[in-house]
Amino acid sequence: MSETLENLLQETRTFPPPPEFASRANGTAELYEKADADHEGFWAEQARTYVSWSKDFTQTLQWDTPFAKWFPDGELNACYNAVDRHVEAGNGDRVAIHWIGEPEGDTREITYSDLHSSVQRAANALQDIGVRKGDTVAIYLPMIPEAAVAMLACARIGAPHSVVFGGFSAEALHSRIDDAGAKVVITSDGGYRRGSASPLKPAVDAALDHGDTSVEKVLVVKRTGQETPWTEGRDLWWDEVLEQAAPTHEAPAHESEHPLFILYTSGTTGKPKGIFHTTGGYLTQCAYTNAVVHDVHPESDVYWCTADIGWVTGHSYIVYGPLTLGATQVMYEGTPDTPHQGRFWEIVEQKKVTILYTAPTAIRTFMKWGDDIPGKFDLSSLRLLGSVGEPINPEAWMWYRRVIGGDRCPIVDTWWQTETGAIMVSPLPGVTATKPGSAQRAIPGIGAEVVDDMAQPVPNGHGGYLVLTKPWPAMLRGIWGDPERYKETYWSRFEGLYFAGDGAKKDDDGDIWLLGRVDDVMNVSGHRLSTTEIESALVSHPKVAEAAVVGATDETTGQAVVAFVILRSEAVAEADEPGEGADIVAELRNHVAKEIGPIAKPRSIMIVPELPKTRSGKIMRRLLRDVAENRQVGDVTTLADSSVMELIKTGLNKGD
Ligand code: WTA
Repeated sequence: MSETLENLLQETRTFPPPPEFASRANGTAELYEKADADHEGFWAEQARTYVSWSKDFTQTLQWDTPFAKWFPDGELNACYNAVDRHVEAGNGDRVAIHWIGEPEGDTREITYSDLHSSVQRAANALQDIGVRKGDTVAIYLPMIPEAAVAMLACARIGAPHSVVFGGFSAEALHSRIDDAGAKVVITSDGGYRRGSASPLKPAVDAALDHGDTSVEKVLVVKRTGQETPWTEGRDLWWDEVLEQAAPTHEAPAHESEHPLFILYTSGTTGKPKGIFHTTGGYLTQCAYTNAVVHDVHPESDVYWCTADIGWVTGHSYIVYGPLTLGATQVMYEGTPDTPHQGRFWEIVEQKKVTILYTAPTAIRTFMKWGDDIPGKFDLSSLRLLGSVGEPINPEAWMWYRRVIGGDRCPIVDTWWQTETGAIMVSPLPGVTATKPGSAQRAIPGIGAEVVDDMAQPVPNGHGGYLVLTKPWPAMLRGIWGDPERYKETYWSRFEGLYFAGDGAKKDDDGDIWLLGRVDDVMNVSGHRLSTTEIESALVSHPKVAEAAVVGATDETTGQAVVAFVILRSEAVAEADEPGEGADIVAELRNHVAKEIGPIAKPRSIMIVPELPKTRSGKIMRRLLRDVAENRQVGDVTTLADSSVMELIKTGLNKGD
């Protein structure tokens, strides 16, 4: 880490905003001053600028550390803000979503009027099947427009949604449905992935087979038309239910603090946390940041956020931010290499995308594929690039700027989390002179600091922990069903400060550089995975006695999952048979995919006789990371048995 750090801090290139860009940018230097002068007044102004309230608020913030209520007596409807009001303002014909399916030529143009018809019918349909305000609805869908419609329809009637990423397994889906107590699941027959139709509905069936959930109905969107197992009385086709539903639905006003959604994310323990967000503050910060950081001008831009709707980035910057602004955006179903490695750039060219928001892991992959691929397409429509999900190394940043941005587009490296709900640390593209690799400063209205172990701000040039110093509108309101865990996880480390779990450093100018997680959370291709969660999955396999998982540095994915596994004695004998070891490894990798999802599959699994532990029995992951990254193994003096590392290394070499 220290070597990386030194390289980072030698980064001295800066790129001031192009004057043309700055002259019409939404985010201005004045915003910083205003926010510093009056934090609450600033946010009240943003709330009234970006959101329409059914009932105006008289109070901005009620702060009883660490519990916040933003605009507590205000009332609004998030779906009305994202859809109806644009139609009322005469922009019904504007394209809301240029949807592009993975199979070439499979596209749909959805205007705000189209969205309006769909959300009204969907809201009525949900009510017809018994969903009431306060009931939770699980959404397990591919990247199709119905995903956005389903979320908005839930918001409209005040039913918090819990979107589960379509790549999660039936097991993971089951635990999320169960934890949220979902009454309805919205899914599809399948989706297109890497050129073929892959089924989705069977995972829902498997999740509900446990027979212990609160789910009453399953709504199934027809996407691929493939053969789909059916449970009469429980399963209903989305199209049919919408068709039968009344076409108009008046959006009711909900309290500002009414729960909008739950989204599960990995923490340091095995059990994913249901992060929950409420309405008024969340919507305000999503729309505000989408305007000032991504510089969205709804009347002229074509915006594209490449995230999946199953992650927070999809929630905030595909659904709630851009639609609340009334923007036109691209939504793409598939992978970047289907049917060819230039698919993203072809889409940019065809749709004349002006703003592109993607992840460092994708950028590094494109880099690996070569400059000539984007070089074949006309990318001159682009005017702003964004990055999110993990630290972006200066080399990838420079490549992004040069090859994709034609050396003219500002890049915004945006730091935030599922918990923060919206962007917190980022340049403002019309104001900040950007630096390759640094997220730089808290945006106007946000307080961020880097502190040491004693909660003291570190001087410039030093590292520590990233904390947030002031409450912010889109902050999580808690962990679903577990208020204690909320306090303990985020607010107990440093008095009165939100602990983000990220290491960071301030450079000589005071700019912030994010350095990755300081806890047992890994970041693989921008996806959060917990070491404990994968360890639990491994140990649940009958052949495994013990497991330790580490995140090893990986050139493309940022980090990669590497597991060290001790087999049960019966399995050891079997593994020693010629050729059997590899089978067990494959079996264990598949087991993790089944328990959590393919994204959690370890890149490698090493079968070892022992694990390095301290005298108190704590696994020393630091040493395992050294092995996983092929480094000289560090200090072993605190190990209970210092010969363990030798044993591990000998065993691994034998296996090579
Ligand atoms: C990491 C994704 C460096 C960080 C929006 C954080 C980043 C975690 C950046 C949250 C960035 C996100 N630079 N690291 N620009 N953006 N991270 O909840 O470790 O999926 O804590 O939210 O991703 O991941 P999550």
